[in-house]
Amino acid sequence: MTTRSRTRDTADTASVAQSLTLTDLVKVYHGREDVPAVKGINLAIEPGELVALLGPSGCGKTTTLRMIAGLETVTSGSIRIGDREISQLPAAKRGIGVGFESYALYPPMSVRENLLYGLKARKAKGAEERVASISRRLEMDDMLELRPAGLSSGQKQRVALARALVRNPPVLLLDEPLSHLDASARQRVRRELKVLQREFGYTTIVVTHDQVEALSLADRLAVMDAGVVQQFGTPDEVFDDPANLFVAQFVGEPQINVLRGVARVRDGRAHVEIGANAGGLDTTVTGVADGTRVSVGIRPQDCALSTDTRAGVRATVAYFEHLLEFGLATGTVAGLEEGIVVQTPAADHYEIEQQVVVTAPPERVYLFDIESGERLR
Ligand SMILES: Nc1ncnc2c1ncn2[C@@H]1O[C@H](COP(=O)(O)OP(=O)(O)OP(=O)(O)O)[C@@H](O)[C@H]1O
Ligand SMILES: [Mg+2]
Repeated sequence: MTTRSRTRDTADTASVAQSLTLTDLVKVYHGREDVPAVKGINLAIEPGELVALLGPSGCGKTTTLRMIAGLETVTSGSIRIGDREISQLPAAKRGIGVGFESYALYPPMSVRENLLYGLKARKAKGAEERVASISRRLEMDDMLELRPAGLSSGQKQRVALARALVRNPPVLLLDEPLSHLDASARQRVRRELKVLQREFGYTTIVVTHDQVEALSLADRLAVMDAGVVQQFGTPDEVFDDPANLFVAQFVGEPQINVLRGVARVRDGRAHVEIGANAGGLDTTVTGVADGTRVSVGIRPQDCALSTDTRAGVRATVAYFEHLLEFGLATGTVAGLEEGIVVQTPAADHYEIEQQVVVTAPPERVYLFDIESGERLR
């Protein structure tokens, strides 16, 4: 593939997809030397790939995007687009499209003029057509002649997204681009964003708090906590093979069950005893010593209820919710404070106080170090 080191000068053709590589990226804000906002991020994003950045508030998502965009200085580390180091370039020279919520629109100009502004400055060919096409696809035709002050927050957000897209950037950074849209517009714009991203091959990072949005958009997820990427993988890898307890708890709805247990090694594999003589579960884990106390993670979707008391963890149904497509049974286990949530088939019904046995396939029972939260395999 040919790579280009310059921002394109025409607006009507797709940019050539570029890789984006972050190496040991660190940000320490002045006066916040005790807690670096970003603590050494490594991410190798493929040309044309869409990565969703997920993580709790304050974990460093926006700081990371702002460093890539050139809106924030880098304390140390490198940022490359293709082979080109960009971390010391001014923002305007990086060839990056930015759709940040706080990204200011020029108040005296109409939406159309705002969208055309950067393109005209670069004398891009086909600018009017491109603005018309993106506006139509993002359902913005009725806003084009309005001024920013007259727009709702959801409309402003779409203008910010459109402004990033019309420039046809090789790299696109979006920070919560759809958070102010209502549910149905959000779904439609999300779909259109994905189609445009595929069509034009922008290498994209999207920050979102919405897991469904992340799963529907992303080729890969980067799950962050406390300034560090905890896991980078496809949605299936992150869901099915979590690197640690944080990732297991952060990704997945309903949330994974975390129970305290004790590993008993049988034939080289750990069986975990749970609660006070409430039974236990087989696992495929080989790397744990007999008698180790562990955190046991089991997704509600992986649990089943059985009547065979030898097969799993004995529980008493404390709560049962019928949610149309499935049910959720919450059980209490003797000797455990935390309840265990089991997703049940839509047709099944459980009564409060009913005695049940919770089972799960051994390969879906995850063990974590009780101190560090690291996965035991
Ligand atoms: N300009 C700044 N000066 C000092 N500290 C900052 C600055 N901007 C962010 N921080 C701190 O850096 C950390 C990371 O902030 P950041 O905005 O990157 O988080 P985030 O993951 O985007 O959170 P959210 O999901 O709430 O948007 C936080 O502890 C925040 O308080
Ligand atoms: Mg943020």
